[in-house]
Amino acid sequence: MESFFICGGNKLEGELDIQTSKNAVLPILAGSILCEEDIIIHKFPKYEDTLTMLKILEDLGAKTYIYEEDVKIECGSIQKSEIPVNLASKIRSSIFSLGAILSRFKKAKVPYPGGCAIGARPIDLHIKGLKQLGAKIVDKHGFLYCDGSNMKSSVVNIDFPSVGATENIILASVFLKGRTKIINCAKEPEIVDLANFLNSLGAKIYGAGDSIIEIEGVEKLHGGEYTPITDRIITGTYVLATLMCGGDVTLNKVNSDHIASLMHNLKNNCCKITVKGDKLRVIANKRPKAISKIETQPYPGFPTDLQPQIMAMLSIARGTSVVVENLFESRFKHIGELKKLGADILVNDKTAIIKGKNMLYGANVICQDLRGGAGLVLAGLVAKGYTTVDDIFHIDRGYYHMEKDLQCLGANIERITKA
Ligand code: UD1
Repeated sequence: MESFFICGGNKLEGELDIQTSKNAVLPILAGSILCEEDIIIHKFPKYEDTLTMLKILEDLGAKTYIYEEDVKIECGSIQKSEIPVNLASKIRSSIFSLGAILSRFKKAKVPYPGGCAIGARPIDLHIKGLKQLGAKIVDKHGFLYCDGSNMKSSVVNIDFPSVGATENIILASVFLKGRTKIINCAKEPEIVDLANFLNSLGAKIYGAGDSIIEIEGVEKLHGGEYTPITDRIITGTYVLATLMCGGDVTLNKVNSDHIASLMHNLKNNCCKITVKGDKLRVIANKRPKAISKIETQPYPGFPTDLQPQIMAMLSIARGTSVVVENLFESRFKHIGELKKLGADILVNDKTAIIKGKNMLYGANVICQDLRGGAGLVLAGLVAKGYTTVDDIFHIDRGYYHMEKDLQCLGANIERITKA
């Protein structure tokens, strides 16, 4: 079992390139199923989840080649329309491939997806959306058996702006003759990036980033090369780490618009954040201040994927803060672990009240999920003494060697193997 061993207390100083976004790359990889020619993804991030998605493509018949920074996918040899349980159970994003497989083969058999255990995470919105396009979907013994032979362009209403459902419905619509209109879409930057990727291959997708997306069906996509956006959640994680530890950190390759809600919440909060082009500099040298209330919301609201990390920050802030988690019902699992480090947090349903402590103290904590794990690392970086963060395979799903990034900024953190 791998763990992080952290000796807290170091300031963070230096410069770091932000990696490519996991949540952008996953649907882009699913999108490559639509293509019969080769695709090259530049700056391919080797997170556990993106590697699993590549394995799904290989299992479908694609040939994939990982180079130092890029990945090449030969999509012409994809012939299967079924995803095996062992791969689908690892990542929730396996469900994105449903829309793409249906689009290419007019049929699909996919198992219920896995992913972080942060709540019920149903897929009803995906299924309802695909049904509105005419797909027939039967749910039997943990599999979805789908027939897309009568799919037609249509108007699709999504009841809640789900990121995954929006992406799935886009992927299912690319080849449908006529114009598909998707209403109440999620607006996340990763959706814009998926549309940009598909459009670069010849798709006609309009309005991504707004709540209505329209898709003019095309006959086929050609191959191409694409560089996805960088990861706004990793960016936010390191901004918060700097605020907590103090120091002077410059993050490169950042689109600061993508973290506008975080920057808004950190305005006047004992740190100076400046943006010059794609460089974001954080200078912090005082204990952070509490934030009266933060609620997670779909983009452009405060991201649920940064909730545990900001909670770690608030647990050492001056004053009392309130955090409301509106997206996922089980996304407070890090709180029990933060308390082991001395945090004072009270939970009532989806609300957490955090009384900032002057000091946290090193302890042995356990990751329960990806972003919660990142929050625990941040807390360990400021805690007095030694912190061990166990089960870091959760963190590896979405941060590539997080310890190396943090070491490069001066943190005292090591990856260790426990018996
Ligand atoms: C994506 C992100 C994840 C992030 C989440 C919310 C990827 C790979 N993952 O996940 O990191 O935390 O957006 O920003 O991009 N819901 C339903 N029925 C459905 C689908 C969703 O009820 O069919 C609910 C979910 O339970 C949740 C809310 O809608 O409460 C938002 O989920 P959604 O936007 O779909 O998240 P994901 O796409 O799974």
